[in-house]
Amino acid sequence: MTQPKLKPATGKLGVLLPGMGAVGTTFIAGALLARNGVARPIGSLTQMDTLRLGKRTEARSPMIRDFVPIANIDDLVFGGWDLFRDNAYEAAVKAEVLTTDHLNAVKDELSAIRPMESVFFPEFVKRLRGENVKQSEDKMELAEAVREDIRRFKKENGLDRCVAVWCGSTEVHREPTEVHSSLSKFEEGLQRSDPAISPSQVYAYACLREEVSYSNGAPNLTVGGVPAMLELARETRTPVSGKDFKTGQTLMKTVLAPGLRARMLGIRGWFSTNILGNRDGEVLDDPDSFKSKEVSKLGVLETILQPELHPELYQDMYHKVRIEYYPPRGDQKEGWDNIDIFGWLGYPMQIKVDFLCRDSILAAPLVLDLALFMDLSHRAGLSGIQEWLSFYYKSPITPEGLYPENNLFVQLGKLKNTLRWMQGEELITYLGREYYE
Ligand SMILES: NC(=O)c1ccc[n+]([C@@H]2O[C@H](COP(=O)([O-])OP(=O)(O)OC[C@H]3O[C@@H](n4cnc5c(N)ncnc54)[C@H](O)[C@@H]3O)[C@@H](O)[C@H]2O)c1
Repeated sequence: MTQPKLKPATGKLGVLLPGMGAVGTTFIAGALLARNGVARPIGSLTQMDTLRLGKRTEARSPMIRDFVPIANIDDLVFGGWDLFRDNAYEAAVKAEVLTTDHLNAVKDELSAIRPMESVFFPEFVKRLRGENVKQSEDKMELAEAVREDIRRFKKENGLDRCVAVWCGSTEVHREPTEVHSSLSKFEEGLQRSDPAISPSQVYAYACLREEVSYSNGAPNLTVGGVPAMLELARETRTPVSGKDFKTGQTLMKTVLAPGLRARMLGIRGWFSTNILGNRDGEVLDDPDSFKSKEVSKLGVLETILQPELHPELYQDMYHKVRIEYYPPRGDQKEGWDNIDIFGWLGYPMQIKVDFLCRDSILAAPLVLDLALFMDLSHRAGLSGIQEWLSFYYKSPITPEGLYPENNLFVQLGKLKNTLRWMQGEELITYLGREYYE
């Protein structure tokens, strides 16, 4: 496997967000606060983590951002689309995630970020109606309009390159159809406005045509499982990644499950429930949008526990996930897990987790890292699915026939080894024989 040639991160990088709600504005405000030295970008590997190089005795652990040429946070320019006309400051105030002090410290910069007109078909997000929506004859015309938005945004801001991270609402659950099976069929489908083509697919198509990488922060059917989109990513040599940010309860699940599996402890049942009161919670109150989330959340345990290899321990596990919309909590979600496990001779035990988290606070650093790492991938000449970024997703996309890695620690090892590989450093295998020879 030859080491890629990395182009340097020159000039400015545009970060385009389809969807500028709670997560989108918390990310933008946080990046601006970090850039201005007002607050720290906690939770971001690109800004805060190190990686070990060489042997443990060498004591070489540079910051990731010093080791690989990722774009500097000072060089980011933010933009996006939304179905509401609120600028990023107004949207952040409504989202009620950050304090007035924090928002006021970057008020002018946030107020200057106005969402472009969105592509929106109400049948894909049943609980929302907005006024900032493009009107067009057909879906191809809409895709062309998004391409034009991207070119204008690049020109007006003097940008070198752009990345896109979907921070829009969760669309209803859909299975791929004939129109998704190839690029030519998809383009024909855009011309005749095929009803199976969703707003997120229109954005992704436009981004990839403009060689803008696309990260999917929601469980939508957009790039993974859509051969047309993967074909386009290959054709334009553009990276894609997804799907559904791994933030609260699923993050905990992919921390705990590998631990239980490592000790060969059995699991009889795993019940997860959440209360959530932000707009995302309201959208997910619609059963069709919840179905997308449910599928994405349920998938994680299977590949970690591998019941087909250990039927005695995991075959009959009952896994259930609920999300309840409960407005009083806003963005401050509470997630409960009850895990029924069993040990030596089959004796039962229980684990209870009560995670009082903040949804957008957990998601914002993921948006930053994905923007910077996807740009790095692009400059390294990597295209198509970026599985090394599965660390960030609940439901990592993989080529057909390849199961995803959901174990957070395997995902982290994959991410850091990919960075080592990019820079021609030795990969870390943890064998460690050399210390005893
Ligand atoms: N916060 C988390 O921990 C987390 C974790 C995983 C995934 N997500 C996903 O991230 C997404 C954003 O979450 P949020 O809390 O910011 O939700 P939000 O409702 O606050 O923001 C979503 C925004 O997207 C806009 N939107 C919807 N459809 C659009 C379209 N077609 N074009 C442009 N804009 C559109 C909405 O108007 C809204 O402003 C959701 O899909 C959510 O499921 C969030």
